[in-house]
Amino acid sequence: MLKQSLIEQIDAAGPLPFEAFMEAALYDPEGGFFAAGPLRSAPEGDFLTSSEVSPAFGETLARFVAAERDRLDHPPGFAVVEAGAGSGSLLGPLLAAIEPRPEAWAVEASPAARRALVDVVGEHRVVGSLGELSGPLPGVIIANELVDNLPMALAVKTGDGWQERWVGVTGGELELVARPARPAVTDWCRRFAGNVSEGGMVEVQLAAYHWMGSALSALAAGSLVVIDYGGTAEELEPRRTQGTLRTYRAHHLGPDPLAEPGATDITADVNFTALAAAAEELRASVELHRQDDFLARWGLRDRLSELRDIELELAKGDDAIARLQVRSQVTDIETLLHPRGLGDFRVMVAARS
Ligand SMILES: C[S@@+](CC[C@H](N)C(=O)[O-])C[C@H]1O[C@@H](n2cnc3c(N)ncnc32)[C@H](O)[C@@H]1O
Repeated sequence: MLKQSLIEQIDAAGPLPFEAFMEAALYDPEGGFFAAGPLRSAPEGDFLTSSEVSPAFGETLARFVAAERDRLDHPPGFAVVEAGAGSGSLLGPLLAAIEPRPEAWAVEASPAARRALVDVVGEHRVVGSLGELSGPLPGVIIANELVDNLPMALAVKTGDGWQERWVGVTGGELELVARPARPAVTDWCRRFAGNVSEGGMVEVQLAAYHWMGSALSALAAGSLVVIDYGGTAEELEPRRTQGTLRTYRAHHLGPDPLAEPGATDITADVNFTALAAAAEELRASVELHRQDDFLARWGLRDRLSELRDIELELAKGDDAIARLQVRSQVTDIETLLHPRGLGDFRVMVAARS
C-alpha cells in the first residue's frame, strides 16, 4: 500500500518535501491516484469537470481554436493539444465542431484515461507527456483542471519569514513537520504569495510555474489556454489563513491529504499571477478572464438564448421528450456559466505569435 511504503521511506531517509509526497500520492505508478486508478473525471468517478457537465464547453472552445487558426493564417500542421485530457469529453465535442478538423493530440498521465482517449484522437496521438509531442507545433494547447494537480510545496508565514511544511512520521502516522524554507520556496512566496498574515498557509506552485515553460516551448505559435479554479495572488489573499489544499473523492471533499495517499485527488486553488509571470517571462502575451465571461465572448450565451427559444417553441407542441432534452442542455449550460460555480473559474490565454 502506498501509505505504508511512504512511511517506510520516511523512516529510512527522513521527511519528504510536500511536493515529493504529492507527486507520489498522485503519480506513483503502483499506487498514485491518477497513475494507478480508474478514469477519474467521469460521472462514476471522482469529479465532474466543465467538459463532463456539457459538450457545449468543448464546442465553445472550438470557436476560439478556429479563430486562432485564422489569426495564424492556417499554418500547415496546426494542432489542438489537450494536456490532462481525461475521458476526452472536451476534445471530442471540440473536434466535432471544427471544420476542417485540426490535428489533435491528448497528453495524459493516467493509463485508464489514455485508453479512453484512443477513440477520440487515435492511438498515435495519445502521449504521456508534452515532451512526446512531435516538436513545437503551431496551434492551441488547452489544460482544463490540470494545473491544480501539479505537485506543490507548502509554506507558512511566521514572525521570522517563511517556513515549509514537509511530511514526516510520528507514532507510525504521516504528519506535517516544520522545516526551514528552501530558497526557491522563499523566492516564489516573495513574488506571488501576496499579503499573508502570520500563521497563513500558502501552496507554492513551483511545478506549475515550470509546466508553463514546457507547454509554451511545445508551441511554435498560437495559444496556451489554462482553465482552473483559483485567482490572482490578490484574489487568493482572503483564503490564506488555512490555505486551499484539499482532497476530492467520489464527487465530495475528501479527508486530510495525508490520510489516504493514492486514494484521493490532492489539489489547491491555482495562483494565476504566478502562471502569468511564467508566461510573460517567455514573452507570451497574457489575458486572464473569468470562465463565464470567456465562454460568453466565444458564443455560449448566444447558444443558450437559441436553446431557450427552441424550448419555448417545443412547449407549444406535444413532444415532451424533445422539450426535456433541450431543457437539460439549457440547465447544463447555465451550470457552466454560474457566477459562483464553474463561471467563477479562471481562463488564462497565453499567446505567442
Ligand atoms: C480533473 S481531470 C480533467 C480532465 C479533462 N481535462 C476534463 O476537462 O474533463 C485532470 C486530468 O489530468 C490528468 N493529469 C493529472 N496530472 C497530469 C500530468 N502531470 N500530466 C498529464 N495529465 C495529468 C489526470 O489523469 C486527469 O485525467
